[in-house]
Order: sequence, then structure tokens, then C-alpha cells
Amino acid sequence: MSVDPVHRLSEDFFQDPHSVYRELNEHGQVHQVEFPSGMRAWVVTGYDLAKRVFADPAISKELYGSAGEIAQANANTVLRLDPPVNDHMLYRDPPHHTRLRKIAMKALSSAVVRDFTPRIEEIAESVLDEFAGQDSVDLLTTYAYPVSGSGICEIIGIDAADRTKFQGWLATQISTADTDVKYAAAMEFEGYVHRLFDERREKAGNDLISELMSPSADGDRLDQDEILAMVNAILLGSVGTVAGLIGNAVLMMTTQPHLQDELRGDPELIPAFLEETLRYESAGNLASPRFTTQPLELGAHTIGSGEVVLVAAAAVNRDAQHFDRPDVMDVRRAENRHLAFGYGIHRCPGAALARTEARIAIAALLRRYSDISLAVDIEELRWQESLIARTLLSLPVRLEK
Ligand code: HEM
Repeated sequence: MSVDPVHRLSEDFFQDPHSVYRELNEHGQVHQVEFPSGMRAWVVTGYDLAKRVFADPAISKELYGSAGEIAQANANTVLRLDPPVNDHMLYRDPPHHTRLRKIAMKALSSAVVRDFTPRIEEIAESVLDEFAGQDSVDLLTTYAYPVSGSGICEIIGIDAADRTKFQGWLATQISTADTDVKYAAAMEFEGYVHRLFDERREKAGNDLISELMSPSADGDRLDQDEILAMVNAILLGSVGTVAGLIGNAVLMMTTQPHLQDELRGDPELIPAFLEETLRYESAGNLASPRFTTQPLELGAHTIGSGEVVLVAAAAVNRDAQHFDRPDVMDVRRAENRHLAFGYGIHRCPGAALARTEARIAIAALLRRYSDISLAVDIEELRWQESLIARTLLSLPVRLEK
């Protein structure tokens, strides 16, 4: 019997996942990988197989069910952060997932995003006003995070002044920190949201928390733990990802400065530019963990029951069998069905908001500045050490009026 080789990844993986995926692809599209933390998982790097994994009901998302428990033991890892704060839709299968998802889809619908669009424009302009006059800034901390964070805070009903506080708790939850450190961050966040519940019980507002706390038209009502987990899922899903997308888009514009004139001359191109940024540098690296509930054939492998499977969005979106010239950033690409927002029943419910926030942020920046360039050598840029986020730690840029 042949034994599958395990590909052991070093810390360098986080800085340059694409070269790791290129190497892995020489062996096929499904790989048994050991991450620097010691976690073992099956990583899918091919586009068609990724869609199959996202859609296969035999592959579970129940982190807190038996599939998740067995798979964590087999993978030599602890992924769980005990409920309630993390017991949200991303880690649930139908029918529980269906119920939670319906509520999230309503909260983040195109109509909600459309109504909120003028406010996002105001937020972007006012954040730009705050650092006007400075010719060099960290684009992520001074612009991308404040725009994405303030937007979602207003929708949820969180005071924007608290943004940096809970952003730290969120970043820790998705980092590679020890489980007890992540758990402590989740508990701090839980305490914070409970205080918001108390405030809303005193006086309801025009915000998502107030809406979730009141009975809905169809009689379904989330309990307090479910609302807490929903708020956590939406914040975890949104702030870092949208900021990451804005940061990655600005990085593209600094490494290929001709894009700035093209986009300024034709702002209608900005959505296509962002889609190509999502494909080329996907804001996410690996999608969230899935667990096999029965043996399955995947690519050239038979994967046993109780294993962790991860779809590498960053690899899938550069699959040469699916995308022409995958390593070239081409804003005029005719076909761009990337999987940066996932696929199937867990596909990102915040995609419309993410696209709108990023489009507004990039358009406002290009209107305000005639030239945006990197303020450090590109080799000095560092990426977050996260399996999930493909987000820079900082992005120092020079801005010229
Ligand atoms: C560029 C920005 C974003 C990217 C790249 C992104 C990516 C993704 C991906 C890949 C998934 C599926 C994960 C999986 O199946 O394993 C997902 C799910 C999710 N995203 Fe996003 N996301 C973004 C923005 C947002 C925003 C703005 C929100 C909320 C306001 C959000 C909330 C969620 C939630 C709640 C889920 C779980 C859905 C479910 O389990 O049914 N995301 N996102």
C-alpha cells in the first residue's frame, strides 16, 4: 500500500502561499498538508474539486457536532472555541444553518446595502478628511479598517469609537494564537455584546441588534446566544476581509501604477478591477474547515471519514485549468467566476456589502489623490499569519494630491 506524502509547510507559507500552491499543484489538486501549528488537513487547490467540496452534503460544517470532534482529533488540532460566541451559521449544517442563514441574508440583502450606500460614501470621505495633509500613511489602519469597520458597526449598532477595541478581539480569534488566548478574546467580545443587549433592552435603536432582538414577521426569533453568535459571525466575516480587499486592491494599484490612471479615467472599471483583485489576491487564503462524514474519492485520493478538508481559495482562483493566464492580473478578463466568496449554501452573504464598500473606498481614494505609491520596498510588506485571511499587516503608502 502506498502511503500519501504529507507536505509540511513552514511559516513562510503565510508570506507567499502562491509559490507553495504552485509546488503542490505539481502533485495534483488534493494534498495532505501539515501546517506550522501541527494541524493536518486535506487541502484542495483545484477549481472544480473545490466546487464539489463546497456543495457535497457528505462534507459537514458541524464543528461542534461529532464530525467536527472526530476530525479535530485526527487533524491534531483544536479548532473549536467553545460556544455560544462561535456557535454560528458557518459551523452548522442544515436545517439549523438554513434558519440562521435566512436571517443573515435578510440583514445583509441588496436592499439594505443600497439604502446604506450613501452613508458608506460619507464614511469614506470623512475618513479621508481625517488624514488629509499627511503625505504618508498606513493605508490599512488609517483607511481600509476604519471604512469597513465603521460601516458594519453602524449597520449592527455598535459605537464606532469602540471599533479598535473589538477589532483586536476579532483578529485574535482568527489568528494562529494558542486556543486559550483565542478563547479569552472571544469571551471579552461576548461580554461587550452583552452590554449592548442591556442597552438595547433599555432603548431599541434603528440597527441590526435591535431588529434581531424584536420578534420577526414570521414569528421566528433568535435567542440571546444566537444573536451573539450572529453578530460575531458578521463581524468576523466582514471587517478584516473587506479591509484586506481594499488593501490588496491598493497594493495592485501601486505595483501596477498604470491601473490608477485607467481607473480614474473610467471609474466604471472599478468593479471589474475589484473582481480581478478578489481572484488574483483573494482576501481569503483558505476557506473555513469542513469535515468528512464518510470516505470519499477526491482527486487521486481516498479520504477517510473524520478528516479536515480545506479549500484553498487563493489556489483555486489561480487554477490554470480554469483561468487563462492565472498569474496575470487582468482587469479586462472576459470570464471571472472566482470563488473568493465561496460557493454553495455557505457562500458569503456579505458579498454585496463587501463589493460596495470596496468600490466606494477605492473610488474615493482615486478621486482625492493623483498618485498612490508604496512608501517601503515591496519585500518589506508582511502578511497576517492566518490560514483564513490573506491580508497585509500594514501597507505604508505615499499619497500625492
Ligand atoms: C472581501 C470580503 C469578503 C470575503 C473575501 C468573504 C469570504 C467569505 C467566504 C469564502 C465564505 C464562505 C466560507 C466557507 O464556506 O468556508 C464567507 C462566508 C461568510 N461571510 Fe464573507 N467574505 C467577505 C465579506 C463579508 C462581509 C462584508 C460579511 C458581513 C457583513 C460577511 C459575512 C459572512 C458570513 C456570516 C459567512 C457565513 C455564511 C454561512 O455560513 O452561510 N462576509 N465569506
